[in-house]
Amino acid sequence: MTLEAPPIPARALPVSARSPGKCIVFGEHAVVHGAPELVFAIDLHTQVFARSSDTTRLNSDPNAVRRNPYLRTALERAWAGGPPLDLRAVSRIPRAAGLGSSAAFAAALAAAFGSARGGVDRAELAQRAFDIERDAQGVGSPGDTSTVVAGGYVAINGGAEVPLWTVRSADRVWEVRRVSDPGWVWVVAHSGIPRSTGDAVRAVGRRLEAADGAELLAEFAKVAREGIRAVAHGDRAGVAELLRRNQELLREVGVSHPRLEALLDAAAPAAEAAKLTGAGAGGSIVALPVPGQETELVRRLARAGGLPFVVRPSAGVELV
Ligand code: PMV
Repeated sequence: MTLEAPPIPARALPVSARSPGKCIVFGEHAVVHGAPELVFAIDLHTQVFARSSDTTRLNSDPNAVRRNPYLRTALERAWAGGPPLDLRAVSRIPRAAGLGSSAAFAAALAAAFGSARGGVDRAELAQRAFDIERDAQGVGSPGDTSTVVAGGYVAINGGAEVPLWTVRSADRVWEVRRVSDPGWVWVVAHSGIPRSTGDAVRAVGRRLEAADGAELLAEFAKVAREGIRAVAHGDRAGVAELLRRNQELLREVGVSHPRLEALLDAAAPAAEAAKLTGAGAGGSIVALPVPGQETELVRRLARAGGLPFVVRPSAGVELV
């Protein structure tokens, strides 16, 4: 049996919370329309420190409350009526890169605020972090936020375990389940091309309204379902084949990018397979290294102009 992460305990201010980023292995975009997704929390983190103050500011900037929609929404939803806060945030997760910087920021804020308000359990924290991200972004699924709250590998709308929790939006319910960790190391690489998750999600939504949309969505769902099973069984060859199929589908719905394709080509000799990860249209790729070729893979991606990281599964958001 998996030992699940404990609730976020109560603490008086000052509090500090640290959240991992995430990497989507299978099912991005399709998850927004109810299909399964497999995601894991990565060991690149965002840390938020909160203490009481005379005015609310983030990294010394009082205008951040107005300018940063994640912070504004987090304060409105999880700190309404509370005293002003001096907030500091530091992050190793590249921004707008598909590696979960916004989910990590939302989860770390929700955990810090929840702790200072008497503690919060993981199911409630996952809902709060999703509400913050969804309000700020306008569209999207709880895949990213639930993964950074749970840590490890997580299936949305799939998998075989008893659900950890469910997350709701106005029109949909998503189930979140634990997937066992096969113990693999992955490599992600940022293309350096920033993009908007909201714009990419809306464009794919329009693409899926075409005549072949339902068929495409069913294919995304099949790949993710089989992928969740293959990861849970530690079947690397099966995962590699499914990563390739998922990338073909993502190309088909128009979210690949020449820079992503260049990184995928550069990765090929040292990777069992690779695909874009996250919203695409820029952002990052994820590759499953040929065992023993991790350093070669990092070197190849860096030479092709990417910003590579070797990543492993991380624990979920926690106080530090
Ligand atoms: O914003 P990103 O690049 O981390 O990707 C989010 C994944 C999507 O499926 C495209 C959107 C969502 O909210 O699930």
